[in-house]
Amino acid sequence: MTPVIPAPVPVPLPAPAWLLEFLLVFTFILHLLPMNFLLGGVVMVSVSSFLGRNDAKHREFARRAGGALPPVVAFAITLGVAPLLFLQLVYGQFFYTSSVLMAWFWLAVVLLVMLGYYGVYWYNMQQEELGRRAAWVMLTTAVIFLLVAFIFSRNMTAMLRPQDFYNEFLRGGVGVILGPLTSSGLARLLHFVVASLAMAGLGVALLSRLWRRDAPGFAAWAHRYGLRWFQAGTGVEFLVGIWFLLSLPAEVRGQFLGASTLGTLLLVAAVLLAIVALVAARLSLAVSTIAIVGTISLMAVIRHLVRVAYLQRYFDPRSLPVHGQWVVFALFAILLVAGIATVAWMLYVFFRPASAQAG
Ligand code: HEM
Repeated sequence: MTPVIPAPVPVPLPAPAWLLEFLLVFTFILHLLPMNFLLGGVVMVSVSSFLGRNDAKHREFARRAGGALPPVVAFAITLGVAPLLFLQLVYGQFFYTSSVLMAWFWLAVVLLVMLGYYGVYWYNMQQEELGRRAAWVMLTTAVIFLLVAFIFSRNMTAMLRPQDFYNEFLRGGVGVILGPLTSSGLARLLHFVVASLAMAGLGVALLSRLWRRDAPGFAAWAHRYGLRWFQAGTGVEFLVGIWFLLSLPAEVRGQFLGASTLGTLLLVAAVLLAIVALVAARLSLAVSTIAIVGTISLMAVIRHLVRVAYLQRYFDPRSLPVHGQWVVFALFAILLVAGIATVAWMLYVFFRPASAQAG
């Protein structure tokens, strides 16, 4: 059967497609970092909540790290809005269709995120009162956020297969169609989850610097503990990454194995930076952090190239009409830069006492 591909929205783009695609990837990286800390963070705090029943260090860790989670949730949610807008703008006809096919799950994300947000606050504010039940509250919260990641990953994967839309529609069940969970889909989800565990470990190692002043012994333990998660997660990520690459369709995989110079160079650079991050972890946390943020950023670009390769048979965003709305665009750019500068300043102020003390 000839595939039925939805037509693009007839409204012209407000800026050239390349600029919107750049902003889609750039703002996705901004979402990805706190989302990684959040997903990995809730898992780490869950584990420590259970271990903390018999271990004072884990109890203290769960208390302190749990306190850092509410602002991380706020960052993850707020920074998800911008890529969502750019995604709809450039890939609307694919993204809307896959969202409608899984509508009930997609709509459930709002409720799940609210429940998860409630969970981190509940854990944080009533740990004493909850007693042994606190660990279960955090575990439930972790499951909720993992479910959110699962639904996002299903949608971002389903939108890449427009040739399936019509058949899925004909088969019935519109609203609850998540699509088949293929090996590639599973590897993609696992790639995000394992990366989150590694990044949360690095986040803990960074956070432990703040704990040096009032609890130096505990801070040294937390530093080592965070690094163990980071190193183990990054190590496992090499294996999951290979699985993910091999599970991609041959024509997509080929883009990163020689068929495209750009794709291949990006993958090699991303892997090399991950190796640097791994080797530098115990020598310099700053070098390791810069290297791994480089890996994550390059991986986000690679993920976009995967999307382009999947859809190239059906759609080229550059074919869309453009009617530049430059005043609005300049306003967006100014606010984006001001927003990033404000967050950078907040982080600097947050970490300053510890670094000043270290210096
Ligand atoms: C707070 C819990 C959240 C978690 C755990 C989460 C997790 C994820 C994951 C794992 C992906 C990658 C999926 C894939 O490519 O396979 C993703 C992508 C995305 N998320 Fe989130 N997300 C969260 C909240 C949000 C919210 C609230 C928004 C919007 C307001 C959002 C916007 C996006 C967008 C637009 C993408 C795709 C960007 C692109 O395709 O380039 N996320 N998210």
